Amino acid sequence: MRVLGIETSCDETSAAIVSGTPEAISLDSLVILSQDVHRLFGGVVPEIASRQHLTGIVPAVNAALRDAGVTMGDLDAIAVTHAPGLVGALLVGTSYAKAMAFAHGKPVVPVHHLEGHLFATLLEHPDAKPPFTALLVSGGHTLLLDVPEWGRYQLLGQTRDDAVGEAFDKVAKLLGLPYPGGRPVEQLAATGESPSHGHPHHFARPMLRRRAVIGDEDYYDCSFSGLKTAVLHAVRHADKSGTLEADKPSIARGFQDAVIETLVEKVYRAAKAHRRGRVVLGGGVACNGALQLAMRERFAGRGGQVFAPSPRLATDNAAMIAAAGLFRVLRGEHAEPTMTATASLPIPGMF
Ligand code: KG4
Ligand code: ZN
Repeated sequence: MRVLGIETSCDETSAAIVSGTPEAISLDSLVILSQDVHRLFGGVVPEIASRQHLTGIVPAVNAALRDAGVTMGDLDAIAVTHAPGLVGALLVGTSYAKAMAFAHGKPVVPVHHLEGHLFATLLEHPDAKPPFTALLVSGGHTLLLDVPEWGRYQLLGQTRDDAVGEAFDKVAKLLGLPYPGGRPVEQLAATGESPSHGHPHHFARPMLRRRAVIGDEDYYDCSFSGLKTAVLHAVRHADKSGTLEADKPSIARGFQDAVIETLVEKVYRAAKAHRRGRVVLGGGVACNGALQLAMRERFAGRGGQVFAPSPRLATDNAAMIAAAGLFRVLRGEHAEPTMTATASLPIPGMF
């Protein structure tokens, strides 16, 4: 089975070829055209994203085919992200995939972007397979899932307000760092001391009551907007006292510590409740080295394994879409000609 994957949901135009089965999957090529233009605006501009996908999609697919040493005729299916995302951006990928599929007589299979993120780690770590606890943390989503098998996703918790990546991006802006802010904040935080309890930059951990029990509304859910406001107040205070430049590393570290402690505890609770020995991280924030380290340390004691994709596969890419598509094709799924892009949609098989 050989599948071409196409991803255009946000600001990456990407194409990839994977082959094999979910048990033994091979990444044959991956091309990612990142749209750096959005940095100028401090966020993704939907109209510009769509236009860049239009110019990038043909070269990206051609390069993916060439790098894998195959032609359209060698493919068994075309997998494409159809939801969720920016509709104009998604439409470029879905329209192109449907046209190519029609022209070459291939089936096209729609893939949910977040199911793609769940499959990303499998491309590098064959053991990152169900059952596992999953934490999906990106610019738009923060989901805690129990995954008993591929295709069945139990939603345990999610953010009540900002996504984790969004919080990183907003805090970066407050600290005068570029967009996207995750990596710059991580780098700045690495130069700061971890603020201890009582320190003004030791921010309250959102939704982390020690005495919470399963069934409580905040047991698995997260919230990051209060933390963002706490950072805003810290920045204003430091600015007034003339210590802002000197305080920035400590503020960044305090913010990142609070996020990580919250996420690690929520994932630990989920893995314990469902007796999962494996944890899979996905989405752009999974690139965060301090998060990965804290997660591994928390699970090391109980013999748990924590898997995270490398940065190239953690952020948006078509390889993960091809991998999830391969699973869906093997289940006999394919799109109707009426298939189209959808801005928001639950992951198929979520309960
Ligand atoms: O999955 P992704 O590439 O795109 C979305 O689907 O949103 O995630 C992008 C997000 C951005 O908010 C970015 O700031 C964040 O991932 N990010 C990080 C790091 N690298 C990227 N956040 C924290 N630490 C990082 N090292
Ligand atoms: Zn994503």
